[in-house]
Amino acid sequence: MIDDVALKDDTLMREFYDLERRSELHGRPHSPHWDFDEFLGAIRSPDSGERAEFFAAYDGDRMIGTAILFSFLLDNTEKAWAVVNVDVPERRRGVGRALVEHVEQLVRADGRTILMTASHLPFDDREDHGYRKFAEACGFELSNFEVSRHLALPVPDERIQEWLDDAAPAHEGYTIETFLGAVPDDLVDSLCLLLGQLAVDAPTGAVDFEEEAMTPQRYAEMIAATDAMGRTRYETVALTPDRQVVAQSTLALSQKDNTVVYQWGTFVHREHRGHRLGLATKAVNLRAVQAARDDLTLVTTQNAETNDYMVAINERMGFRPIEVHAEFVKRF
Ligand SMILES: CC(C)(COP(=O)(O)OP(=O)(O)OC[C@H]1O[C@@H](n2cnc3c(N)ncnc32)[C@H](O)[C@@H]1OP(=O)(O)O)[C@@H](O)C(=O)NCCC(=O)NCCS
Repeated sequence: MIDDVALKDDTLMREFYDLERRSELHGRPHSPHWDFDEFLGAIRSPDSGERAEFFAAYDGDRMIGTAILFSFLLDNTEKAWAVVNVDVPERRRGVGRALVEHVEQLVRADGRTILMTASHLPFDDREDHGYRKFAEACGFELSNFEVSRHLALPVPDERIQEWLDDAAPAHEGYTIETFLGAVPDDLVDSLCLLLGQLAVDAPTGAVDFEEEAMTPQRYAEMIAATDAMGRTRYETVALTPDRQVVAQSTLALSQKDNTVVYQWGTFVHREHRGHRLGLATKAVNLRAVQAARDDLTLVTTQNAETNDYMVAINERMGFRPIEVHAEFVKRF
């Protein structure tokens, strides 16, 4: 039986989270994973650009599988994204397929034509892994490989200085500034414009994305969601002399004892590439988080395997590949 899950019910959401955690960390126990408060903060924060629906599969009273369906509301409205997890002892009983069929029906009824999903896979088994076989058995095809990479911290400050010295001659005339939480009001419009372009320009394999409608309201919601997760957001931006944001890099870290730093987006506007603003914003941001906390152990990041520019910067900084994130698509 598959049920809607009430987001406001703490006990139910705890069960949902625990199952998701067991499933996601199965076979990859040391991977960074959000804690319960981070999860609750993220899923209970409104996003006017996206609808999220929660479902659980039951055997009697026992929750044995979960699904979240994200439907984009302001752009890319033909697409939806599903996250499906089945508890480890309950696998190969048709639960995953039933959850996919359930969300697929909703996506079709909503008039959408593209459903996407993804799985973390080890490098050496990315062609034949059971999760990929599952996606294919449900009618999905591989659309993209992203690669997760980790950078061990701390990075000696002299190394960060070397990157900054290398980049500096290429970006004369731009200024680089770091903000905790939201950027000042006068930078919001140009930052939103930039963030909306990310999905257009970043390689996304067989699925093309149109520009994302990143409105100031959504930006404010994103900031509120980061706060609700108990994370601090470090935003380093590159500005033109007339203070337009043309490059950005975001790091998020827990306000509690979690020592993992999450690299979120890094993006340089297409008219301002070739000035080493990607390396410069990432390096300045890393220096800022290391100055704030001396107990941080690693930065985790993820980007398309084919994103040569970003991969080159990450390799230069010493990021090491950990696993792939295989993305799948089903078109109706
Ligand atoms: C992937 C996952 C959701 C599958 O759930 P499940 O309930 O075991 O899947 P089902 O029993 O419905 O499997 C349906 C079909 O998929 C294929 N399949 C599923 N798991 C498989 C595996 N480990 N190896 C080979 N084929 C597999 C089979 O063809 C299966 O049919 P069959 O059992 O009649 O042969 C589950 O393993 C999981 O939660 N993984 C972690 C999260 C994840 O990666 N989710 C996204 C997947 S795209």
